[in-house]
This record gives sequence, structure tokens and C-alpha cells, in this order.
Amino acid sequence: MAGITDSAFRLICHRYGAALVYSEMISAEALSRGHSKTIRMLSFREEERPIAVQLFGTRPLAFAESVERLERDIQPDYYDLNFGCPAPKIVKNGGGSALLKFPEKIAQIARAVINVAQRPVLAKIRSGWEVGSENALEVAKLLEQCGIAAIAVHGRTRSQMFSGQADWTIISKIKQQAKIPVIGNGDVTSGADARRMIEQTGCDLVMVGRAALGNPFLFAEINAALDGELRISNYKFRGAGWQERLEVIKEHIKMSLDDKGELRGIREMRKHLGWYIKGIPGAAALRQELMHAGTEVEVLKLLESIGHEKRTDE
Ligand SMILES: Cc1cc2nc3c(=O)[nH]c(=O)nc-3n(C[C@H](O)[C@H](O)[C@H](O)COP(=O)(O)O)c2cc1C
Repeated sequence: MAGITDSAFRLICHRYGAALVYSEMISAEALSRGHSKTIRMLSFREEERPIAVQLFGTRPLAFAESVERLERDIQPDYYDLNFGCPAPKIVKNGGGSALLKFPEKIAQIARAVINVAQRPVLAKIRSGWEVGSENALEVAKLLEQCGIAAIAVHGRTRSQMFSGQADWTIISKIKQQAKIPVIGNGDVTSGADARRMIEQTGCDLVMVGRAALGNPFLFAEINAALDGELRISNYKFRGAGWQERLEVIKEHIKMSLDDKGELRGIREMRKHLGWYIKGIPGAAALRQELMHAGTEVEVLKLLESIGHEKRTDE
């Protein structure tokens, strides 16, 4: 996820049981030109593996050149092609979900990448460009014919952005036709949701986006649900308690600062901190204070104060 799934957050998700983590989406144009900021976005820790590097763009040659560079310098476990991003700045240049309007262009990109990739190539699509012109079934078939190894399907059109409810029936339809693994995506927020998605759609894997923000523990919950633990009647997964949460936040801050330095590391951690403290008593006031804390020491002091209050409350 752009601006979110950097190395630190990916490793935390991996430790809580995410079977595969994805890079932020990477511009194929920028990477093929060797843009230094883009190359920095690619750094990852070996423990994160398996990891997919996700590319977006429009020109098959830029994708192929990017993958050649990645083969030479990075060697991730998978490549993933982004045909689902709805962000205006991406679609106005013809990338992400805008490509759903041009399936043949999608096929050209997929073939160009598969031709040079020495590891499996995955793709991610939405159900279509807009309501009434959903063509995910056709696009999925084409991608499979090109040699894509697995396909992730987000059950919303581009025009729906993130609104309403994801339509899981499109995931079922693609699963019924596909011979490759299908990764279901959209609105999974609990272990029970993940089970329901698999039961309803038959998808092979479940992809989680927004619900993991501030809650990487969700991957453990999902794995427990899929292993059957949640079937025990009345069992309620309680999630991480504050002390566990605090340990994870500290580790997240430490890795972020190691990677980005204090100024940028703290700035980029702010959104994560806001998500991590969601739901705790006094979160709104604390969030304000955290947004103004500029150093690691200040941030930790604020967070420890909650830990202390909680401990004395108990
Ligand atoms: C802030 C934000 C950034 C995202 N960045 C990406 C991205 O870089 N690549 C991608 O494939 N999807 C991206 N997504 C979409 C999610 O991966 C996912 O498909 C979507 O949010 C639906 O799944 P969810 O209901 O589990 O969140 C992003 C979503 C959000 C909210």
C-alpha cells in the first residue's frame, strides 16, 4: 500500500503471520530510469520474504526494464502488476485501474514482464472501470493466458473507489473460471470475514489492506480462524493487549528510524501511531500530542504514559 507498506511495517505483518507482503506500488517509469528515491523504496529485510514488488505504469518496455533491474539488484520472490489503483494522479496518466479499459494493453505489459522475469508474476485488478462495464472476468482470463501465476481481485470498480461494499461475487466468478490461484480482496476486517470470503468465493488466499493499519495482529487472528480455532463456540479473539501493542509500536518506531533517520522516520510514523492507538481511552487527545512530538524520546514518553496509566488502572 502506497505510503504504508514500507520495510518496517511489512516485517511486522510478516511476523504476525502474513503469508506474503507487498512493496508499496513502484513506478515502472521511475525505476527503469534508475530514480534514486524509487530505488530506496525497494529496500527490504531478508526476514520479510516472501515479498512481492508491485509495479505500476503504462509502457510495457518500462515494466520490462524495471524487472531486469530488479532481477539484477533485488531478486524479490514475486512481481505484482498493479491494474487496480484508482488514484486520480495514476489513472490520469493511464496507469493502475485505467488500464482495465484497455485489456490488450494489460496483456502487453504482462507478456513483457513475464518474458524477462525469473520468478512468478502476479497481477491485481478491480472488478472493472465503472459500474456497468465490469470486465474483470475477461481481464483475468487474458492474464492467465499470458502466464500470470496468481491474480488478486478487489471487488470494486474504479468509479466506486473505496465506497460501499466490495462485491465478492466477482471473486467467485473468476475463481470458477481460473486455473491459477485467486486472491480475494475487499473489506476483510476479521478472521471471521476471511473465512466467509473463502467459503463464499472459493478463493485460495485472502488479501488484507486497510484493516491491517494499526492492527497487524489481524494476520494472527485470520490464521487462527482459518485453522479452525474460531469455530469453538463463544470464542472471541481479543486481539493484542496494550503491552503487546506497545512492544510492537516501539519495534516499528525503531525500524522506521533505522531506515529513515529520526526526522523522516517520526514524521512517517505519525499516521501509524494514530492507527495503533485507535480505540484506547483518550486516543483523540493523545493523537494530537503525538502529531506534535518530533523526537523518538518524546513519542516514547507519550506512549509509555498510556502504558503506565493502564497498568495503574488495572
Ligand atoms: C492508502 C491506501 C494505499 C493503497 N495502496 C495500494 C498500492 O500501492 N497497491 C495496491 O495494489 N493497492 C493499494 N491499495 C488498495 C488495497 O491494497 C486494497 O486493494 C483495498 O484497500 C481494498 O482492500 P481492503 O478492504 O482490505 O482495504 C491502497 C489502499 C489504501 C487505502
